[in-house]
Amino acid sequence: MTEKIKPQIGKNPPRIVKVEQLCEKHDVLIVGGGGREHAIAYKLRMSDKVGDIYAAPGNAGMGVIQTGISATDLDGIIDFVATHDNIRMTIVAPDDPLGMGLVDKLSAKGLRAFGPTRAAAKLEWSKAYAKDFMRRYGIPTAEYATFTDAAQAKEYVTRCKTPVVIKADGLALGKGVVICDTNADAQNAVDEIMNDKKFGAAGNCVVVEEFLKGYEVSLLAFCDGEHYKLMPTSCDHKRALDGDKGLNTGGMGAYSPCPIFGAELMEKTEKTVVAPTVEAMKKEGAPFKGVLYFGLMVDGDDVKVLEYNARFGDPETQSVLPLLESDLYEIFGACIDGTLDTLDIGWSDKRSINVVLASGGYPASYKKGFDISGANDVEEGVNVFYAGVKSGDNGALKTDGGRVLCVQTVADDFKTARDRVYRNIEKISFDGCFYRKDIGNKLA
Ligand code: AMP
Ligand code: GLY
Repeated sequence: MTEKIKPQIGKNPPRIVKVEQLCEKHDVLIVGGGGREHAIAYKLRMSDKVGDIYAAPGNAGMGVIQTGISATDLDGIIDFVATHDNIRMTIVAPDDPLGMGLVDKLSAKGLRAFGPTRAAAKLEWSKAYAKDFMRRYGIPTAEYATFTDAAQAKEYVTRCKTPVVIKADGLALGKGVVICDTNADAQNAVDEIMNDKKFGAAGNCVVVEEFLKGYEVSLLAFCDGEHYKLMPTSCDHKRALDGDKGLNTGGMGAYSPCPIFGAELMEKTEKTVVAPTVEAMKKEGAPFKGVLYFGLMVDGDDVKVLEYNARFGDPETQSVLPLLESDLYEIFGACIDGTLDTLDIGWSDKRSINVVLASGGYPASYKKGFDISGANDVEEGVNVFYAGVKSGDNGALKTDGGRVLCVQTVADDFKTARDRVYRNIEKISFDGCFYRKDIGNKLA
């Protein structure tokens, strides 16, 4: 721990604090290896309190020390942290290790970990729990019913108004939601999820939900179990193709903030959604520490929760974190220690946009192993956050996943930011590269 020099009063001799202690840097481990984790590393590197950044597994473009340990190898991660004394914090970014209880296990060994416990992360890993939770505490969300019996679910959906939404209860790589235009489609979706086990055990239970109209906003908050601090809003683009066409993906680009979501809506959302959720998690005996993500559907002045995530969003984080003007390591520490209320967190009022470059074919099958060129030639002020990449024999990065990298920048207005992002994307190439051309194109 870094010690502060305090004025000494009375008889006690002055405490001697070594200079090395004041300047001591802490190493950290980031669990995960996508663009989101790269953005977290980028921001942590700006902290004068952070030394080396390790990652499990990280990726070859993140500029961190890759441990070779996978994000779901809990024992491997715990062993690594326990045997590296200078790692003073583990940041758990992805949903799977959170759902497996990595934060609980690290904490039980006295190791500092940023992220919710397994019980608190249940808001994400069980949609049925999240819906019942919202109903119990009067948090606005779509009408729904849950089923553990496929026959009953199929009978129920024949009577639902269409479109109707069918959701697998558990984690399904963001693919467990099916919007069905007809009752027959809804029956099929139930069959695929519950009987064919398309998403494995995640489909042992389904949520059948009313379809909501409107536009989507992602609102993220740092939480310390008791207090919260909101981040600027952001907007993801989930479909693969321009005009929100094509298949659902992990996200093809994001901007922050969402100008359409003004101060009044924010105030209302804080009052009806954010504060009640944080308060209710305490009542549940699972105070939420970490990043709580509210996926909102907004229709006029009506705001409803579509989903909770128990973590930073991807690719929202790659647009939101570059706007942060405070020390991210200090914020993570305050979330762990329950002292978030003592921090004044600063955000730039500029505009941020990122666009994802993906492998041809994504989110269906795609090829890997293509050389990536031009990513070092981007203009100053433009960030390249890497996701699915690995090192090639020639030292160049090669594609190694569906979402390969994203290009991000900040400017005084969206048009300048968008033009700069797309101008710099032109410099980057790899075989089969594709990206959406319409991220933020409706923004002034
Ligand atoms: P979720 O993982 O629950 O956020 O669902 C993924 C996506 O499905 C959301 O971002 C929405 O685009 C869509 N979606 C989920 N639930 C609904 C709903 N009740 N009405 C309309 N669209 C929905
Ligand atoms: N961008 C949506 C998510 O991270 O789940």
